Formats: sequence, structure tokens, C-alpha cells
Amino acid sequence: MKNRKVVLVGDGAVGSTFAYSLIQSVKTVEELVIVDLNKERSQGDAMDLQDVTPLTADIDIHIGDYQDAADAAIVVITAGVPRRPGETRIDLVNKNVKILRSIVEPIVESGFKGIFVVSANPVDILTTLTQKISGFPRERVIGTGTFLDKARLNVILGDHFGFKPSEIDALVLGEHGDTSFVNFDEARVNGRPLKDQVDLTPEVKNQIETEVRQRGGKIIGTKGATFYGVAYGLSTICRAILENNYKMMVISAPLSGQYGIKDLYLGTPAVINSSGIAQVIQTHLSPEEHEKMKRSAEQMQAVIDGVSS
Ligand code: LAC
Repeated sequence: MKNRKVVLVGDGAVGSTFAYSLIQSVKTVEELVIVDLNKERSQGDAMDLQDVTPLTADIDIHIGDYQDAADAAIVVITAGVPRRPGETRIDLVNKNVKILRSIVEPIVESGFKGIFVVSANPVDILTTLTQKISGFPRERVIGTGTFLDKARLNVILGDHFGFKPSEIDALVLGEHGDTSFVNFDEARVNGRPLKDQVDLTPEVKNQIETEVRQRGGKIIGTKGATFYGVAYGLSTICRAILENNYKMMVISAPLSGQYGIKDLYLGTPAVINSSGIAQVIQTHLSPEEHEKMKRSAEQMQAVIDGVSS
């Protein structure tokens, strides 16, 4: 295995923005292969990206196919039908599961022994199914999950209370979607509990949580897609893997009893290193937040049961 080779499957808005972010921020990448049904367009994208490398690092960027995964360290899957204005992520499930199967099966057949990183939606479901279809150990499959929602929460809390987003340490957990929720109980600003610094009434909490959930749809309603946030999340996960840096982040991770949930990927903090998910962390939840986590898991499980039946 080449431990510096990344294969990107899906060169749409998220995929190509991820590629752009990866080659700038992860100095350890040696080879980036772009796999997309539209070979002509992705060839152009590869050339466009090559034009960045004289100023960053020597990275071999080219188009390819699933066979290229054979000796890759990471396969990033962004391919799928994206959300249109008014659609939920769950609305995409049947189409995207079909696409996912057509990608994961040949990649496994290629002899791929690395780590899958999934961002196609509905991400928690597609990450759970990537692990099931591939039969890979759970720690070698990762979803972007609520990484993006956590970033959005920082922006929204910052705006609301006048903090800088970088001073805030707060998590969004559960589904990357309509049942996500904020872990207000543990939220901190400059190391001190948020609840000691501002008046967190149930109404304020509800308003913030709703804004976090609706932010993606709002962006899609204006520019037709979201890609910078999730693409940066993907490159951050790849960096943690390629640089073996044991970074803790909130992602879609496999639960095996944490929060009383099993056999499902959901947004929770986890530590990432070169083996994938080094540790899944169960954060402290209030009883009300615990109920929200359970509800999120139940809804994800119901959708998964519907897909496989
Ligand atoms: C979003 C898409 C990536 O929330 O799910 O922006």
C-alpha cells in the first residue's frame, strides 16, 4: 500500500473542492486519483489542480478508475445525487445507496486495504452501509457526519452571543440531518461552560439548534449547493489519517454500545490516526440530549431497515 495515495470517487462540487483543499493543506499527499463517470470533465479538473502543485508540493494528480484503489491509503466517496432545494438528505437514500454499492463493491474487489471516508448523503446511513457492503473493520470506515454542523454551530453561537467562532468548543451530535442536536451541556467558550456565561433558555437552545439544522438548506436555496465546509472536513480527516496525528473531531463513527446504541454510524467525537478511527468517544449528555441521541439512532435504523428490505 502506498501510504500517501488518495482516490477520490465523485468529482462534483464537493469532490473537486475537497481535492483543491487537500493538495493545499495536506503536504504529505503524493498521489491523488480522480474517478468520475464524466472522464472528460475530470481530466480537465485534474489538469486545473496540477497547476496548483508547483506552488504547493509535488503531487501526482491524474484521473483513473476503481482499480487505482488497490494500493491507496484512502478512498473518499462524495459521489451521489446531491440535495436540491427543499429536499431532505433522507430523500436521497435509495438513489445514493445504489450508487454507493456500485462503487464500494469494485473497490473492495480491487484489493483496497485502506480507509473509506464518506461524505455523500445521507452520510450516516451511507457510512453504515459502506462498512456493511465492504465488510471492512469498522474503524476503517469514517463519515464526515456532524463535523460540518459543529462548524456551523460555532459560527451561529459566535454571531448570537458575540464570541469568536474559534473560542467555542461545542458539539453537534447524532445524524447529520434533521435529528441532529447540540450538546449544550458540555459547550465551552474559552474553556468555561457556555451555560455559565450566557442565558441558555430552552427557546434560545431551540432557536440555535434549528438554525444549525437549517443552514445547509438555506445555502442550497441560494447557490444551489454547499461544498466548502464539507470539503474542508474531508481534507481535515484525510490529514489526520495521512499524518497519523490522533486528531479528535466530531465525525460519523461506529457506535458499539456508546449511548446505548450499536451497529450504527452517528455523529460523536472520535480520535483519528493512520489506522482510521483509533477511538470512539462517548461525550457526556444531559438526559434530554440522551433522548435526542436515541431518537436520532432510531430514525437512522428505520431508514436502513427500509433500504435493505
Ligand atoms: C450540508 C450538506 C453537505 O449540510 O449535507 O451542507
